[in-house]
Formats: sequence, C-alpha cells, structure tokens
Amino acid sequence: MRRIITFGTYDVFHVGHVKLLKRARLQGDYLIVGVSSDELNFSKKGRNPVYSLDNRMEIIGSLKFVDEVFVEHSLEAKRQYILETKADVLVMGDDWVGRFDEFKDICEVVYLPRTPSVSTTEISEVGKEIE
Ligand code: CTP
Repeated sequence: MRRIITFGTYDVFHVGHVKLLKRARLQGDYLIVGVSSDELNFSKKGRNPVYSLDNRMEIIGSLKFVDEVFVEHSLEAKRQYILETKADVLVMGDDWVGRFDEFKDICEVVYLPRTPSVSTTEISEVGKEIE
C-alpha cells in the first residue's frame, strides 16, 4: 500500500484541483489531503477563502479519488503530518518545485505540473472586474 499526501486550500474548487488530485492518487493506492484552515490561508494569501473550511473539506472528502482529509493548521507542521499519516509520497504542484525537498529524508517528494490558465485567484478576480 503506497500512501500519498498532498496539501492545498482548494477554495472555489476548479478543474486544476481535480486534475492535480487525480494524478496524485495515481502515484499510489491511498490519497490523503491536508486542507488549509481559514487562518492558514489568510496568512499565506492575505485573504479569507471564499468557501469555509467545512465546505472545502466536504467537497474534497466527496471525491472518489480522495481517501482521507484532514485540516492543515500550520505550514510548519508538514513534517509531523507526513509522519503521522505514514505517507510514502508527498505530492505538490510544480508552483512549489524544490520547496519541499527537505522532506526527502522521510518520503518521496513529487512535483506535478499545474494545469495552465486556471486558479482560484484568477476566478476571484473575474468576479471583481464585473462588479
Ligand atoms: N493546482 C494545479 N493547477 C492549477 C491550480 C492549482 O495543479 N491550475 C494545484 C496546486 O499546485 C496545488 C493544489 O492544486 O497542488 C491546490 O492549489 P490551491 O493553492 O488551493 O489552488 P490555486 O487555484 O492555485 O489557488 P490560488 O490561485 O489562490 O493560489
């Protein structure tokens, strides 16, 4: 059993998220997703998510290629999360390339290409322009 872990906010769920999660699951047999808390998202991106943590967890947890979800409360706790979930592979989008190489001592680290031309930030910006 090869256990995969990945992290993200997954706000305003879109096809880039689907493709990333599907490909992450194909790296192994069991996919665990850490969903950023609202506070963590604010500290990372300087704004609150559009969807609440509960809604984002419910969406991610409903996907057939996701086996387990948990709340990521702190960026600094990644090592602890990887160890606690007994993950064999950490998957991240290639916007993070190199940033998680420090965990290569406890798991494989794989960066997958992002889907071009779609992001939560861009979708939120469209809404602003037409206001
Ligand atoms: N992702 C992707 N392709 C996209 C957008 C996101 O593969 N077009 C991946 C990211 O690389 C990450 C995961 O989806 O592994 C969650 O990304 P997240 O930051 O929650 O979504 P974004 O749309 O990138 O959000 P934002 O625009 O707010 O940064």
